[in-house]
Amino acid sequence: MAADADAKKRRVALAALDEMPRDAIIGIGTGSTVNFLIEAIAARPGLIGIAVSSSEASSARLRAAGVALVDLNDLTELSLYIDGADEANPARQLIKGGGGALTREKILASAARRFVCIVDDSKMAATLGQFPLPIEVIPMARALVARALTARGGRPVWREGFITDNGNQILDVHGLRITDPPALERELNQICGVVTVGLFALRPADLLLIGTSEGVEKR
Ligand code: A5P
Repeated sequence: MAADADAKKRRVALAALDEMPRDAIIGIGTGSTVNFLIEAIAARPGLIGIAVSSSEASSARLRAAGVALVDLNDLTELSLYIDGADEANPARQLIKGGGGALTREKILASAARRFVCIVDDSKMAATLGQFPLPIEVIPMARALVARALTARGGRPVWREGFITDNGNQILDVHGLRITDPPALERELNQICGVVTVGLFALRPADLLLIGTSEGVEKR
């Protein structure tokens, strides 16, 4: 089962190579699917020379693959961002943050002219919300934000012991049936103490590549 999932992730990661313009600086996401992409980049020296990374974990892997990293502040534009997701719907709206890197991921998605999301078919859902929605919070506001989420019908669970690359904490919100993702993202963004909501609906992916047992679907 895990081997099958890995085969799909590897397949979709390889398909993402075809979306990468030569000589461009590429934003690289975080997670096991992206790790297959970094592995593929490492096997093709010179394919990309420079990247912007969404996490300390991906930065370490990219450096080991011989890719130089640049700070987003030093760029005037980012042509492409490639990342995985925890859940995706047919409108290319996503839940992200299972790995806790959602804030830098959202920044890169927002900075990029084009956002390509790579998932295996187990991540597809007609309605988002089966996967608990990760929300990065300022530590002192964790309980305050949790109460606000409970009042909205969610069941927030503190990801205890986990600290994000930005020094913050994560609440994973269970029990949300997200019928209007942009509206919910807008609403949750307003809660004081929330750093980033792991809903990527106001800035969805531009292209969804879906790894299946047979091949790769584009949406
Ligand atoms: C990291 O914080 C997440 O947003 C990942 O992009 C997401 O969890 C996908 O990870 P996998 O490729 O490991 O499923």
